[in-house]
Amino acid sequence: MATTEPPLDPVLDAAVERAVAALRGGGLVAFPTETVYGLGADASSPAAVRRIFAAKGRPPSHPLIVHLGDAGLVDTWAVDVPRDARHLADACWPGPLTLVLHRAALVPDEVTGGRETVGLRVPAQPLALAMLRRFGGGVAAPSANRFGRVSPTTAADVAADLGPAVDLILDGGPCTVGVESTIVDLTGPTPTVLRPGGIPVDALEAVLGRPVALAAGGESRAPGMLPSHYAPAARVELVAAADVAARVTALLEAGHHVAVLSEAAVALPPTAVALPPVGDAEGYARALYAHLRLADRLGADVVVAVPPAEVGIGAAVCDRLRKAAAPRDAPGDEPEGP
Ligand code: TXA
Ligand code: MG
Repeated sequence: MATTEPPLDPVLDAAVERAVAALRGGGLVAFPTETVYGLGADASSPAAVRRIFAAKGRPPSHPLIVHLGDAGLVDTWAVDVPRDARHLADACWPGPLTLVLHRAALVPDEVTGGRETVGLRVPAQPLALAMLRRFGGGVAAPSANRFGRVSPTTAADVAADLGPAVDLILDGGPCTVGVESTIVDLTGPTPTVLRPGGIPVDALEAVLGRPVALAAGGESRAPGMLPSHYAPAARVELVAAADVAARVTALLEAGHHVAVLSEAAVALPPTAVALPPVGDAEGYARALYAHLRLADRLGADVVVAVPPAEVGIGAAVCDRLRKAAAPRDAPGDEPEGP
């Protein structure tokens, strides 16, 4: 994929310069990617990476993705890189794909949670790429939300969630994809999707010319993922389109404040909150987290969500909706160990 960048306007250029200086100084920089905003630090600095966990309130055993400005840096951060990884990187980077590879010796334990593997990705966002290329190193970054909260898709979301814990927020506007990257583990005999995301699984299969495995049940199996991840304060219920009107009526009669999330507009009782219809699966992905946050701000205590068809990026949306709808204190809510 071509990686030529148009020049940045001078204001953004100065902001990128400050972000690079903050990273070099061991600081925390929230930055836009095409998926969600990341909370970044110099991946080669254990002290800087520890600040990410402190700011997020995230358990240190949860591994972080290392963001790179160019696919040519893969061999700095990983060893024994298989041909499948090269093909996927060529076809999908910059883009919403994370490759899990055997880590190089320079990757600190703080980044991998002590694992022998590392997740790498080149994001497709002009400010992120400018920052990463000027910085030159790797930037370790989880999504820029407090642990267990909905991922941020605007700079304002980051400020609301993390505020003063961040040294600088680079504002690149709303994220264009809206759900996190697809994570593929390439350290075993068969490429295995650990988390569905912005790149559909069939696109990976088209690149590799053979099927990829889905980790058990097609659910996210990346270490550290919890069933209650991606959840707003409101309870989320998944309801088929044909049943929405009846379910919403019943919830309203029971005294709930109900918001409805769906592709198409639904005829609803006037007291229900209809979030703007998202249109299609891409629109659903782009709007998902913003709408869950909006439902909270509007005081909804139940979000009734009509899932999209589970194909293409719709699979990632369905995965996140199921996690948002999972019981909050279900068994298995404990972080998985390394
Ligand atoms: O789109 C994205 O991937 C966003 C943007 C900021 O790049 N990042 C993101 O980071 O979603 P985070 O930390 O919220 O989720 C990263 C996931 C975690 O579930 C983690 O377990 C998994 O990636 N992961 C990271 N390194 C891994 C490794 N070595 N092996 C398996 N899973 C890994
Ligand atoms: Mg996250």
